[in-house]
Amino acid sequence: MQTETLIPDGAGLVRAAQLLREGRLVAFPTETVYGLGADAANDAAVARIFEAKGRPRFNPLIVHVPDLKTARTIAEFPPEAERLADAFWPGALTLVLPLRAGAAVSPLVTAELPTVALRLPDHPVARALLTEFGGAVAAPSANQSGQVSPTRAEHVLAGLEGLIAAVLDGGACPVGVESTIVGFQPEPVLLRPGGLPAEALEACLGGPLEAPPANERPSAPGQLTSHYAPGAAVRLNATENPEGALWLGFGPDCAGAALNLSATGDLVEAAANLFHHLRALDARAAPGQAIAVAPVPDHGLGRAINDRLRRAAAPRPA
Ligand code: TXA
Ligand code: MG
Repeated sequence: MQTETLIPDGAGLVRAAQLLREGRLVAFPTETVYGLGADAANDAAVARIFEAKGRPRFNPLIVHVPDLKTARTIAEFPPEAERLADAFWPGALTLVLPLRAGAAVSPLVTAELPTVALRLPDHPVARALLTEFGGAVAAPSANQSGQVSPTRAEHVLAGLEGLIAAVLDGGACPVGVESTIVGFQPEPVLLRPGGLPAEALEACLGGPLEAPPANERPSAPGQLTSHYAPGAAVRLNATENPEGALWLGFGPDCAGAALNLSATGDLVEAAANLFHHLRALDARAAPGQAIAVAPVPDHGLGRAINDRLRRAAAPRPA
């Protein structure tokens, strides 16, 4: 299959929506990372996502919607979900909600759970595509399963060229880490730290978010401990230039770093650079050479960054 690279102008968006209607796969930019989209109501199209990504079937997908009206046809919104959607949609927030009976969503999307993950993204290209398509689009991150998420069209092509119909090239993703995922049990639970800082959610809800019980992280992302992993080994908390390894710095005290997530110590800039820098160092690493990452403060977007780095550093399956 020849993968088309589409410019996100009128003609490109019409073509992308047409491909989705035909049950084909189209990667598109969101403010967080690139998604690998399929018509959420089409079983065969959704199955192709798992095939292209080499993804374990039990891992459910996020459904992207053009508007709140479409979201309400798919899921029920408890009062706290209403509040969060009202405050943060469109944006880098995914809500895991009770699935509505008869919702036009393939059971492959939810892995037959009674819940569905919904997101109304805030990227002009994602919104234009969803509006042009006129329905719900299931989309995980557009990378091979277990690998680093893509924040540019060229990252998508590096993993999926020849396996998907098209990629809409919208340039670099501004946030750079995946959405924050909140579930309701029924109290709000942080299932994955992400591009919307937990502190902002807690301020809106007026109380702390619960962490999911350790024994009960079924479909929460990163239940696969090694995830978001580049090819090179990753080590954490490198406070000085490590001998033999490539140093990925953070902040002003990292002279000699191969790359720096943010020389000024800005967590927003660091999140936007994270996956691109991991890919760049991976390409530069000699065989057996590790990437050693400077410590990143664990607040705001730093929580999402550290979550992804811990997974990148986790022992890999043999
Ligand atoms: O920013 C993002 O969230 C990106 C863009 C493309 O929207 N998407 C993304 O998708 O990161 P993915 O598939 O790589 O991660 C979605 C996570 C999965 O790990 C899955 O476990 C979780 O969402 N998820 C989906 N449905 C769920 C459900 N019903 N209950 C609990 N977790 C769910
Ligand atoms: Mg992913």
